[in-house]
Amino acid sequence: MKLLKERICQEGLILSETVLKVDSFLNHQVDTELVLEIGKEFAQIFGDEPITKVLTVEASGIQFAMATAAALGVPFLYAKKKKAITQAEKMYSASVFSFTRQETYQICVSQKYLGPSDKVLIVDDFLATGAALIGLTDIVKEAGAQLVGCGCVIEKSFQEGRNWLENKGVRVHSLARIASMSPGKVEFLEEHHL
Ligand code: G4P
Ligand code: NA
Ligand code: NA
Repeated sequence: MKLLKERICQEGLILSETVLKVDSFLNHQVDTELVLEIGKEFAQIFGDEPITKVLTVEASGIQFAMATAAALGVPFLYAKKKKAITQAEKMYSASVFSFTRQETYQICVSQKYLGPSDKVLIVDDFLATGAALIGLTDIVKEAGAQLVGCGCVIEKSFQEGRNWLENKGVRVHSLARIASMSPGKVEFLEEHHL
């Protein structure tokens, strides 16, 4: 997505060879016009399938899930994060290991809002290690729902997330795929590799 890549080049802050800050337009302050365009893009890419629900995890996936769901005309659902392992009834849950925080947390979705008749599109802001997205795919599986695919706004292609998801047979589409980065410079994968 050209518009997104331009904004990353103009406003993205590269904190190290692995961390990209997009706080001025996506992740803290949010450019609503751009987010709505991102939603339309995901709706167009995955809309050939009859999606019934868009799923993400709090917090920074929410605006993208909402924009995508609005473009598709379906509800979105966000998994909640819980610190301790809680055996809450009537919840689907999965464990996620956060590489950045070096800790495991739980993500949960009420059984009321996801079930075998659902066709689910997962959306998230970053595809890095893929841990959060794998957790979401586990929840879709537990619900007996059908997974249509995963839409990621920014993929750091030098991390293992995409491979991990593809090895599980998941259709992955990212709007900006970063091959490498260093202070002041972002290299994207060529468009024909998308
Ligand atoms: P992930 O692939 O499952 O996201 O795994 P990882 O443990 O590597 O990432 C931890 C958190 O950091 C995630 O947010 C993820 O979206 C975010 N993240 C990963 N790489 C980058 C990056 O380069 N830049 C920025 N800005 N964020 C990155 P989270 O902890 O789930 O929380 P939230 O922000 O959604 O609340
Ligand atoms: Na996220
Ligand atoms: Na995040």
